Amino acid sequence: MKLTIPDSFIPVFRTNHAGETGAVYIYKAILMISRDKDVIDFSKKHLRTEKDHLLLIEEVLEKKNRSKLIYIWKIAGFLTGFIPSLIGKKFIFATIFYVESFVEKHYQEQIEMIKNKKKYSQLKNVIKKLQDDEISHKNEALLEAKNFNIGHKIWGKLIESGSKMAVNISKKI
Ligand SMILES: [Fe+2]
Ligand SMILES: [Fe+2]
Repeated sequence: MKLTIPDSFIPVFRTNHAGETGAVYIYKAILMISRDKDVIDFSKKHLRTEKDHLLLIEEVLEKKNRSKLIYIWKIAGFLTGFIPSLIGKKFIFATIFYVESFVEKHYQEQIEMIKNKKKYSQLKNVIKKLQDDEISHKNEALLEAKNFNIGHKIWGKLIESGSKMAVNISKKI
């Protein structure tokens, strides 16, 4: 059965589409720069998952409903992967940890919106599946980074506010 989303969910799915596009570009940037074997293995694996997420969302969200600013989300994602790759391995893992912490919450808000509506149970399961993947990405990043210093935390705050802004804009355009 083909998954459909209620019209009221189109703006939210536009933010998901923008976010998963950004995620693909984060890993593309990391793989372009990093020469660290752990980072490359980690990123290749995650990139495959993010591409699957993007395909899944593209099946549901018609082209005309996608963000008109998609090139900006690609650049923003690319920079989010590129900058830490210039700094070092731990910064890369910190970045993934903070990005995925944000995405986990973002998907949780959507689950809350529909969790008691039986007709959206299939949609809820799809979002839950996306969220589960992001949680495992977050946990893998934490396992690699182990702990974060003040620099990582400041960068994490920047990621969080940038992501919030991207969600607010892509909800509309
Ligand atoms: Fe994803
Ligand atoms: Fe992810």
